[in-house]
Amino acid sequence: MIDDEPGGGSQETTVFAPASMGNVAVGYDVLGGALSGPGDHVTVRRLSDPTVRIESITGRVTDLPTAPADNTAGAALMSLREESAVEGGFEVSIEKGIPLGSGLGGSAASAVGAVVAAAATLSGTWSGRELLPHALAGEAVASGDRHPDNVAPCLLGGLVLTREMDPPDVVSIPVPSRIRCVLVRPDRVLTTREARACLPEMVSLSDSVRQTAHLGAFVAGCYRDDLALIGRALRDLIVEPHRADLVPGFSDVQDAAMEAGALGCSLSGAGPTLFAWCEGAGDANAVRDAMTTAFSRHDVPTETWISDIPSQGARVVESSIAE
Ligand code: HSE
Repeated sequence: MIDDEPGGGSQETTVFAPASMGNVAVGYDVLGGALSGPGDHVTVRRLSDPTVRIESITGRVTDLPTAPADNTAGAALMSLREESAVEGGFEVSIEKGIPLGSGLGGSAASAVGAVVAAAATLSGTWSGRELLPHALAGEAVASGDRHPDNVAPCLLGGLVLTREMDPPDVVSIPVPSRIRCVLVRPDRVLTTREARACLPEMVSLSDSVRQTAHLGAFVAGCYRDDLALIGRALRDLIVEPHRADLVPGFSDVQDAAMEAGALGCSLSGAGPTLFAWCEGAGDANAVRDAMTTAFSRHDVPTETWISDIPSQGARVVESSIAE
């Protein structure tokens, strides 16, 4: 927990920031969950100069902007430095573990990792809620919008609903321990900006009413440990229809997941990764196999893994103390 970090004195800190799935089908832009497995490692060093520098970008993705204002980690650090009157500056090295344009919260992870690492180099304690606006400022550089559905769970862990961003009002929702999340990433890049451009400006009142009922029922199912209710509710009636065509074979893969026993299956964030919530590891294995087979019928190679919804978000993994 960020709140529990001791204050003071570390000069260089490395943070692991996990991948995450935005929207979780029912809560476009407001609901998201942390994932176990891939993530970004972000190292921040204090500088005496009042500036922010990107020192290096390595790992699965290297072709990212190095101008701080155009880089999600850089922009997040600029926001933290300017808004919190930090003396001196920061240099950041990013080791990307999350593929670009995958729908797995890669831009959010770099932004979150940067502010959590920077906070650990500063004196005092910083709560996740204090850091959230700065991570959001970083995420906005990539997608063009401030949306918290990846940033909040990456920062705080677990399944998180953001009711309001200014000031942040975030709600951690319990996830039944039997839930396993299958993730199947087709070998395609789809930027969040591109996937957002496909969406209509307006939705109908009747669709909005139905989706609100599904979100409410989903959250109630999580609190009641009621997997049948979660299974009835885990649907995206508003956004998915506009994005399905961006992923080759989407409908076949989704059908295959549901026939194999998934509680629900939709796009992870803006896609193209698909996620499916399942009851237990046995169902998850069967659903993963069905989804990869369906993608292969469309000649789409995939990368897969099965995750829980870990309660821990971004965390310090290495720190050098100067004192
Ligand atoms: N909620 C956003 C979207 C980002 O669907 O466009 C998800 O990663």
